[in-house]
Amino acid sequence: MTTDVEPFRAIGLSRIAHELKGQGRSIIHMEFGQPSTGAPPTAIAVAHQVLDADGMGYWESAPLKARIARLYRDRHDLDVAPERLFLTCGASPALVLALSSRFRPGARIAMARPGYVAYRNTVRALHMTPVEIDCGPSERFQLTAAALEALEPPPDGVIIASPANPTGSIIPPDELAAIAEVCRRRNIGVVSDEIYHGLTYAGSTPSMLEFAPDATVINSFSKYWSMAGWRLGWVLVPDDRIETVRALIGNLFLTPPSLAQHAGLAAMDSDDVLQGHIATYRANRQLMLEALPALGLRSIAPPDGAFYIWADIGHLTDDSLAFCERLLRDTGVATAPGVDFDPVNGHRFMRFSFAVSTAEVREALERMRPWFAALA
Ligand SMILES: Cc1ncc(COP(=O)(O)O)c(C=O)c1O
Repeated sequence: MTTDVEPFRAIGLSRIAHELKGQGRSIIHMEFGQPSTGAPPTAIAVAHQVLDADGMGYWESAPLKARIARLYRDRHDLDVAPERLFLTCGASPALVLALSSRFRPGARIAMARPGYVAYRNTVRALHMTPVEIDCGPSERFQLTAAALEALEPPPDGVIIASPANPTGSIIPPDELAAIAEVCRRRNIGVVSDEIYHGLTYAGSTPSMLEFAPDATVINSFSKYWSMAGWRLGWVLVPDDRIETVRALIGNLFLTPPSLAQHAGLAAMDSDDVLQGHIATYRANRQLMLEALPALGLRSIAPPDGAFYIWADIGHLTDDSLAFCERLLRDTGVATAPGVDFDPVNGHRFMRFSFAVSTAEVREALERMRPWFAALA
C-alpha cells in the first residue's frame, strides 16, 4: 500500500528562483523558513577542531542530551531525564518518530489548517489520517480547546505548533492548558512541535510539557540556532515510549552526524549571537508589518513568533501558486504559495519568510511596491 503525499510547492518555486539566479537575475529568498545567517561562530570553530580529532562514527552525544535537558530547566523549570531525549536529523525525522511511537496506522490525527505542509503529509505517509481543523483569523489561525472538544469522534492524536508555521501565531498559555485538559479527558495523544521556541516577539511560549507531561515534543537546531543544514534536532518522549523509540531509531535513522552534535552543543551557549538574529527578525517583522498594508495586503496575521507573515491575497487571485510564480519571475522575490499550508483556502493566501537580512527585506519591498500597485 502506498500513500498520496503532496509535493512542497515552495520547493518548485525555489528551483525556478535558482534557475533565474543562474541567468544572472537578483533573487531574494523569502520562500523558505530558513535563517540566512549561518551557525554561530563558536559552533563552526568547534566543528573545525573536531574534524581533525574525531573519527566521526555513530554517536549519541551524552553532553548534548544533558545540555538539552538543562534547556528545559532554564526555559520551562522542568526536570527532563536525558533518557527521554533522542537526537535526530532535525524535527522532520523527530515527527516521524513522535507519530509512529505513539499511534498505529489508521489513527486520526488532528491539526490546524493552515499548518506546516509536512504534518498532513507525514501523517499520510505513515498510513494515518489527518483531521484538519479549519482555523481562521478569529482564532488567529490556531487550534483551540473548543475545536478539539467539538470533534466527534475524538481524534487519536493532535499536533500542536506554537509559534506556528505559516502564521507565526502563538497559543496563549491558558489555551494550551485548556487543550491539555481536553486531551487528557478525551484520551487524545499530544505531539507538540516546539521548533520555533526562542523566536518570539510577543507573548510567552511555555512547553506543552508544562501542561501535558505525557506529550511528545519535537524540536530542532534549524531555526533558533540557525543550523538548518547541519541536520540536528530531538524528540522528547514520555517514559512509556522510551523503548519503542529506541527500537525505531535504531532501525530507521541511527544517529545524527557527530559533527553536528559537537557544533550544536557549542551553539547552545551562543545566545549573545542568536539574540542578535532575533533583533534582525524583529526589525524585519516591523518593516513588513508597516509596508504590506500599503501594498494592499491589509489582512495579515501579525506574527507573535517564528519569521513568517501569512497574507490574504484573495482580492488579487484565486491561484496562489501562479501568483507567487509571477511575482518571482517579475521581481525576483521568492515567496511560498498558501496552497502548501492550506489545501482548502490557501489558494488565496501567500507566506513571506522574513528570515533574511534587513537590507533584503527593504529591497524586496521596493521591488514589490510597483508590482502590487500595477495589479491594483
Ligand atoms: C513547523 C516546522 N516543523 C518542522 C520543520 C522541519 O524542520 P527540520 O527538519 O529542519 O528540523 C519545519 C521546517 O520548516 C517547520 O516549519
